[in-house]
Amino acid sequence: MRIKETPNSSELVTYTSFTLFPTPVPKAVFHQALAVQTHYNNLVDRISQDPDFLQEALASTIAVDDFTARLFKIHQQILKEGRSQSIVLGLNRSDYMLDQSEDGTSSLKQIEINTFAASFGGLSSRTPDLHRQILKVAGRLEESERILDNNPAAGLAGAIAKAWELYASEGAIVMFLVEDTQRNIFDQRCIEYELWKKNIPTRRKRFDDVCKTGSLQDKKLFVDGLEVAVVYFRNGYMPQNYVSEQYWDARLLIERSLAVKCPDIGTHLAGTKKVQQVLAQPGVLKKFFPDQPQVVEQIRATFAGLYTLDMGPEGDQTVAMALAAPDRFVLKPQREGGGNNIYGSEICKILEGMKEPSERTAYILMDKIHPTPSKNYLLMRDAPLQISNCLCELGAFGAYVRYGEDMVMNECVGHLLRTKSSEHADGGVAVGVAVLDNPLLF
Ligand SMILES: Nc1ncnc2c1ncn2[C@@H]1O[C@H](COP(=O)(O)OP(=O)(O)OP(=O)(O)O)[C@@H](O)[C@H]1O
Ligand SMILES: [Mg+2]
Repeated sequence: MRIKETPNSSELVTYTSFTLFPTPVPKAVFHQALAVQTHYNNLVDRISQDPDFLQEALASTIAVDDFTARLFKIHQQILKEGRSQSIVLGLNRSDYMLDQSEDGTSSLKQIEINTFAASFGGLSSRTPDLHRQILKVAGRLEESERILDNNPAAGLAGAIAKAWELYASEGAIVMFLVEDTQRNIFDQRCIEYELWKKNIPTRRKRFDDVCKTGSLQDKKLFVDGLEVAVVYFRNGYMPQNYVSEQYWDARLLIERSLAVKCPDIGTHLAGTKKVQQVLAQPGVLKKFFPDQPQVVEQIRATFAGLYTLDMGPEGDQTVAMALAAPDRFVLKPQREGGGNNIYGSEICKILEGMKEPSERTAYILMDKIHPTPSKNYLLMRDAPLQISNCLCELGAFGAYVRYGEDMVMNECVGHLLRTKSSEHADGGVAVGVAVLDNPLLF
């Protein structure tokens, strides 16, 4: 492997940042996050199949946000033509912070659920051994033995494999639809290797490959001459991922095909921040779990305060509340990938600087969560090694497969702990802010 000097070169190979030590996490909230995950899987799946709900929830967003509008257009076209495939594969990650109350206890509050290209299931399958080793070297044997096993890679691959089997075409491949410039290849490789272990062929392809060689034959998707059973999107969640109209055509081609899409367009839309905000409104969750009040309660307990910015009195009230105390909130546009959220006085600048009042409907407002800080060393490339004040974020990986009406798999397949220096308000591992960690339960 060649390592070049230029930091942004696609040929530069570097390690993913991690904490030197694991971070203490209360047992109860950790198990709460894992336990609610299968309900979140059902919720996402049910939303994805409810076009009326999606239309109503996203109407104000679509009017001002071009990217969401484009995705929604694909969704409508697929509905009109009829869905080709009754196998649904969902791989998601629900992220939480532990909000610290005045009495010192912490409660699990969801940041958001990622239904598209939720990453670090691969690398977080390797970090337990890393921390075990470090703790042993540091002479902390007892802690080393308490590091939890974690293997989301196997669980995510298990769900992909199930979808591939149901597709039932022996030579067909699992296509990883990857970025033009690879930034997280080893995370994806861990899942690929789990599939190869099961003798399931995988290939990495870019949108451009689909543009140039993709075709439908009796609705079956072929890319580079190979039939595709499953498309696992690891690219396509940001506007800048679609560099030309042809990339949008490729997305549509995939959506129309018989290939199992992870996620399909409805599931992609179910993961928007606007949907998250609408779900927090009174009575909405109940519609998706009409006979399961305990499930509604279990999910609702993880919600932070979320507020609409739709035009009208309720949205006006949200604006007034945000302007009066901006430090209490986070303003979020419909974007993924980190670094897009707005905090503190910037919230006022954005809300007061809009040319058209309706521009506000591209955003939602959320209560800012205050996790308990802890001290750790963050091992990051080119950064000095120093003790930092850190905040962490816990993720739970969900995996499910539905075949027609039957949920044939619905599991929580592991966890992720990411830690960042408290000086950063936003940003994940991919943008170089957060690093990989492990929970040490207490
Ligand atoms: N309500 C909140 N309170 C405190 N911090 C928050 C809140 N919402 C988001 N953050 C911080 O901002 C980061 C990014 O937020 P979010 O996940 O909503 O955005 P995203 O662009 O979808 O990120 P990702 O790429 O991780 O999906 C979180 O990882 C967290 O550190
Ligand atoms: Mg996200």
